Amino acid sequence: MKISKRINDVKVSPVRKLLPYAEKAVRNNKKIYYLNIGQPDVKTPNEFFEAINNYSIETLGYCHSAGRKELLDTISNYYKENDLDYRKEDILITNGGSEALIFTLMSICDEGDEILIPEPYYANYNSFFSMLQIKVNPISTCAESGFHLPNLKQIESSITTKTKAILISNPGNPTGTVYTQEEMERLIYIAEKYDLFIISDEVYRDFTYGNNKAISFGIYTSIKDRVIIIDSISKRYSACGARIGAVISKNKEFINAIYRLCQARLAAPTLEMVGAEALYKVSNTYLEEVKAEYEKRKNVLFKELSSIEGVIASEPEGAFYTIVKLPVDNAEKFIIWMLTEFDVDGETLMITPAEGFYATKGMGVDEVRISYAIREEDLRRAMNILRLALNEYSSNSTNSLKVAKLN
Ligand SMILES: Cc1ncc(COP(=O)(O)O)c(C=O)c1O
Repeated sequence: MKISKRINDVKVSPVRKLLPYAEKAVRNNKKIYYLNIGQPDVKTPNEFFEAINNYSIETLGYCHSAGRKELLDTISNYYKENDLDYRKEDILITNGGSEALIFTLMSICDEGDEILIPEPYYANYNSFFSMLQIKVNPISTCAESGFHLPNLKQIESSITTKTKAILISNPGNPTGTVYTQEEMERLIYIAEKYDLFIISDEVYRDFTYGNNKAISFGIYTSIKDRVIIIDSISKRYSACGARIGAVISKNKEFINAIYRLCQARLAAPTLEMVGAEALYKVSNTYLEEVKAEYEKRKNVLFKELSSIEGVIASEPEGAFYTIVKLPVDNAEKFIIWMLTEFDVDGETLMITPAEGFYATKGMGVDEVRISYAIREEDLRRAMNILRLALNEYSSNSTNSLKVAKLN
């Protein structure tokens, strides 16, 4: 017996790859600050649990494959309040944004088709691409320019006749970049010129800082047939475990196609849909408070990072991640060293090597993704550990370090 080649091509997530080292460190009584995960520590609003507790049924049956009607109406209202005209029939409920993405890619790509995407990008996209035998057309971006998009010519040079769609996470995981209106219009120009779908992953839409604002591709009604929005309650309402997301589009042909996949997997979970309905109705104050909390953490993180010699960090504009260049030759080796050989009073740090967020070989080797979904005081401690770790690593002659100072 043999398992498939397709599954062998699915890579281990870079976020989880180093977990065995962390587990061993914990067994050796080290305390670890986990800055590697995208799971918010913020409390899920009580409304979620109350709605489920108050929902009384005798038999927990399958729901409609498109999702609970009440939830579809609620999401449509939420969009209306955000000046986006999406009706119930434009929305399908999925098991998280992840299933929305898999179903979307499956509905628009055949084996060998290609997706245009700025790198670094959310590493699980790679799993989706390899399970569907989709190729990546990476648009390379870099820390020095805050991971904003290159010029039109550079983007166009990545397109081939097999390119079917642009996939963009805005605000970006893992970069924290929020695309400007001009950048979005550049992508729209390209989508129209090369006849591409735009898959707009907007699961971090609410978390933008300073003057940055995440513009939804949904506002561009002239290209409404090209736009597919991926939504989720995981991050917005700190409800990752509920597994409720949505795929949203005005393109009827696309919605009809993807609905077949929704039917094949029968339904999304009923109780979580009941809870999700309550979440989409929570007051804006909740989101404003959560956003303010992330913004505080972002400020702490960026200030600390900027003061560490040799580190190149751009100020995060949204979401709760950032990609940082470290003065080390290989970030993965450095992280393993921190977990196995280093601690400050019994404490160390877990961050994610960034190489796995790139499609282009050799990129991101000296970079890490840092998630700031943890408390401010823990972030400060963690950054102090990073500073001391870099000092010690660089003074150890067996660790091959970059000689040149990077900034
Ligand atoms: C950019 C992005 N898209 C989609 C997802 C999927 O989230 P979920 O399946 O929990 O809705 C995540 C999760 O981290 C993400 O970072």
